[in-house]
Amino acid sequence: MKDNSEKIYNLWPLYIGEFINYEHNKIKDDLIKFFNTYEKKFPEGNAQLNEKDYVGNYNLYQSKYDLHNEDNKNLKELFRFIGKSILSMCKIANKKSIDSFNDNQKYTVNINESWFIRYNKEGVVFPHNHDGYSWSCVYYVQIGEDSSITNGSTYFLRPYGGSWKTDFGAEYLRKDTHVFKAEEGKLLVWPSYLLHGSHPYKGDKNRIIISANSTIDLLNEK
Ligand SMILES: [Fe+2]
Repeated sequence: MKDNSEKIYNLWPLYIGEFINYEHNKIKDDLIKFFNTYEKKFPEGNAQLNEKDYVGNYNLYQSKYDLHNEDNKNLKELFRFIGKSILSMCKIANKKSIDSFNDNQKYTVNINESWFIRYNKEGVVFPHNHDGYSWSCVYYVQIGEDSSITNGSTYFLRPYGGSWKTDFGAEYLRKDTHVFKAEEGKLLVWPSYLLHGSHPYKGDKNRIIISANSTIDLLNEK
């Protein structure tokens, strides 16, 4: 007889995905060239960073939020990779609902906003989240010489507040941040509500990343 005296629920699990684009070396140089041209065309970049009283990210160039609409073959290919990876995350996180769907169910991944950031030396992104979307991501285009986790890497903050006991019982909640190593061609995907930022970047060679916010809809066959 099955013992039903214990039930363990894993509610509100937190998923962070890491995906590698094996085509990265083929597109890297062209992407950098494209970003250089973009920056010359729009030297002011993202309007928010130029507001008089803006206090926040610094020592970096940030593009406008519609990078996915730019007409560049490699960029479009990269957004296809990003879209596929985000859909994988969505399917794992929503498996319970998806199990009840018809096998032919299709999905639309919307890239709602996307931009690139070029960090100058000591460039920093303060902790923030991307509320209003379901999944957000970062893709590392160029890392520079030093990819150690203390140098410009992306960190995520524990989404639970409160103070913590020092006993072993809460060991699994102990870490207040998780840091991912930056690697060229790597994509990180996380739920948009999650607070994150990047450590100061100390390298001389520009570090360049692409970031995006997305939503996913069920596509009903007509
Ligand atoms: Fe962000």
